[in-house]
Amino acid sequence: MTASAPKATNIVWHHSTVTRAARAHQRGHRSAILWFTGLSGAGKSTLANAVNSALFEQGLSCYVLDGDNVRHGLCNDLGFSDADREENIRRIGEVAKLFLDAGVVVLTAFVSPFRADRDRARALVEPGDFIEIHCAADLEVCESRDTKGLYAKARAGEIKEFTGISSPYEAPETPELRVDTGHGDLEACVAQVLAYLEQAGIIPAPTDA
Ligand code: ADX
Repeated sequence: MTASAPKATNIVWHHSTVTRAARAHQRGHRSAILWFTGLSGAGKSTLANAVNSALFEQGLSCYVLDGDNVRHGLCNDLGFSDADREENIRRIGEVAKLFLDAGVVVLTAFVSPFRADRDRARALVEPGDFIEIHCAADLEVCESRDTKGLYAKARAGEIKEFTGISSPYEAPETPELRVDTGHGDLEACVAQVLAYLEQAGIIPAPTDA
């Protein structure tokens, strides 16, 4: 399934009177999409949650959309075929865009294994609004962690189409950030992301806060 024109006809876009710019002015920071991508077990959710906590501590509006969680509700009709993953990422891209408009720094933690799907999500928003963060942890590291026991099941053939084992992962070629979540410690990874957001002018530097 690919992104296409709406099925419905006779629908007219309604512009909000409260603009994104007004929200940014009121809150003192820009909104952005921080798109974490990487293998299962690479540490996407851990890093996204740690960054989210740091932003929250600074009083910023932020929210995490997490793959495992979203698949319990909004995307509970989707599995892990290529087409279902594409639709999963399409929906998350659209939801993230709404958060962006709402003035929130939204952090998405999805495997999002296909470059084309991530690029489609990027294309929904303006340049600078989509920050792709590759949680670069080797398959060997993720598999040795196997925090959810899923790699063992995938190797045993009990889970089909498992990313890295029986389904591909296309690493980003030019992400805004590549974070070593395989060996780096969590605090250093968080600091790397925050430093990027500060120099990009998305969040105020601590001295400005
Ligand atoms: S995505 O490919 O569509 O982006 P998503 O991030 O939503 O995946 O969900 C991945 C999570 O679902 C993994 O962290 C893992 O816990 C679980 N999972 C279950 N089956 C699979 C599978 N076949 N491939 C990858 N992850 C799976």
